[in-house]
Amino acid sequence: MEYKKIVAISGASSGIGKAAAVHLAERGYGVAICARRKELLDEIAGLVKGACIFPYQADMTEWEKAQSFIRHTQQKFGRIDVLFNNLGAGIRFTEFEDLTLEEIHEGIAVNLTSVLYGCKAVISIMKSQGSGHIINTTSILGKRARAGLSVYTAGKHGVDGFSTLPLQRGEEVRDKGERAGTCNGKHPLG
Ligand SMILES: NC(=O)c1ccc[n+]([C@@H]2O[C@H](COP(=O)([O-])OP(=O)(O)OC[C@H]3O[C@@H](n4cnc5c(N)ncnc54)[C@H](OP(=O)(O)O)[C@@H]3O)[C@@H](O)[C@H]2O)c1
Repeated sequence: MEYKKIVAISGASSGIGKAAAVHLAERGYGVAICARRKELLDEIAGLVKGACIFPYQADMTEWEKAQSFIRHTQQKFGRIDVLFNNLGAGIRFTEFEDLTLEEIHEGIAVNLTSVLYGCKAVISIMKSQGSGHIINTTSILGKRARAGLSVYTAGKHGVDGFSTLPLQRGEEVRDKGERAGTCNGKHPLG
């Protein structure tokens, strides 16, 4: 089957990721989706008749799982044109000093580490293809701060900094054909 492009979306069992997956599949893109809730991914895979949404269960905060999602997507479609690193979660809305160490760790893992893992896993593939595009979902809290969401704010600032410095300015990869950019939660694919 011929696809316009191949798009891998992390964090696609609900919300923006799910909407992007369905939107793209309906328009002729080959789409791979991942998240932790397999039953939701399987449901989404069956939503668009005659299209291909490839569901893959993975917790992107674990390096082996993140790598495995990217590797299986490449094996399924032969290439990856776009990685849409979309997962993120607010954790508990409360003052920073009330958060447990586990919540701090989880907040950074889901909002920042997962994005770094996705990028690390896909960059060698995009380099070997000579092209590729990475979109990392940030938030207005990647630019501002909000009391009660301190760790989410820290994670999204990290995504903004990571995406706009080494990647987007092209110091590491743009000359080899990859591009990176950020979007806030309301505009996933422009
Ligand atoms: N909605 C907004 O107003 C808004 C505003 C600004 C920014 N954003 C950002 O936009 C993105 C999407 O948000 P949304 O509103 O669409 O949220 P959502 O419906 O809660 O979607 C989040 C997705 O991430 C997945 N996910 C969470 N932890 C994961 C993990 N460890 N590994 C793999 N997948 C994981 C969830 O699936 P599972 O639970 O099945 O794993 C889910 O599919 C997030 O980055 C969010 O921070 C949203």
